[in-house]
Amino acid sequence: MKRIAVLTSGGDSPGMNAAIRAVVRYGTHYDMEVFAVHRGYEGLIDNEFEKMSRRSVADIIHHGGTIIKTARSARFHDRENREKAYANLRKLKIEGLIVIGGNGSLAGAQLLAEESGIPVMGLPGTIDNDLAYTDVTIGFDTAVNTVLDAISKIRDTSSSHERSTVIEVMGRHCGDIALYSGYAGGADFVLVPEVLTPVDEVVKKVKQSIKSGKAHSIIIKAEGYPVSSEDLIKELKEKTGQDVKLAVLAYLQRGGAPTFRDRVLATDCGVLAVELFRQGIYNRAIGQVDGKVTHFDLAEALAMKSSLRVELFNNVSVLSM
Ligand code: F6P
Repeated sequence: MKRIAVLTSGGDSPGMNAAIRAVVRYGTHYDMEVFAVHRGYEGLIDNEFEKMSRRSVADIIHHGGTIIKTARSARFHDRENREKAYANLRKLKIEGLIVIGGNGSLAGAQLLAEESGIPVMGLPGTIDNDLAYTDVTIGFDTAVNTVLDAISKIRDTSSSHERSTVIEVMGRHCGDIALYSGYAGGADFVLVPEVLTPVDEVVKKVKQSIKSGKAHSIIIKAEGYPVSSEDLIKELKEKTGQDVKLAVLAYLQRGGAPTFRDRVLATDCGVLAVELFRQGIYNRAIGQVDGKVTHFDLAEALAMKSSLRVELFNNVSVLSM
């Protein structure tokens, strides 16, 4: 394989640039021509290719975001637009496409491979950690560390004013950002879309904390938990008699310099993607299991179901006041 392309798709995540750098540098080292597709599948449809050199990816490993831009592409759902994308890849004689993105982006890669026959590779680029085949996704570690920093800052003011705070984090269908930041941040409660915790349980926990002399509870809520943060706070205020504040971290979690772990994960995945192409292996989902970078059949990987680490979820409350 001598001519490949790489794109980033869906929500951006810290580490995407490190993966792009690894693909370009490893590929060019082995005499491949590497093209970037700008703006994800939108750029593939609109023929937005850029020939990359080793210099193109200088000084990006430590930057969040993606230098080749990303997008969510509703147009890619139409076969007609997908055929345009395939024709653009064929026109440039691209022999393999590396897609860096989340669930939807990797499903798009699988569809592209099935319909066009063009080999693909999927890299897990999303802060959500919602790809079951890999223990961790590129950007998740950085996002959780961003939330941890926010928790400690909010805890300072929450405790000073003896009031509770609900911290809303990203994660529509997967509560891992809430779960791991709550567990590592010593939160009093974690609310995730996978577990329909009744609000009364949270009220009871906050009341117990107040009774035990600790007036400031920190509650981490994933945006996908079915009760809105506003309604949760209203209930807590009414039933505990306490002032409760809301901090929505939103897009803070998507930016920032990737951590060491994310840089290593992203670089490992980018290198393996190109190495597998070199060996004539393709249509694989690349990730990390038990600390080692690995790969699975793309279709099988996307069919795997993720599950919440229930023991972690339960221990957040066991270990809090
Ligand atoms: O998929 C990653 C993610 O950050 C989710 O956690 C979040 O709900 C979503 O993207 C936000 O999407 P957008 O950037 O399109 O608003």
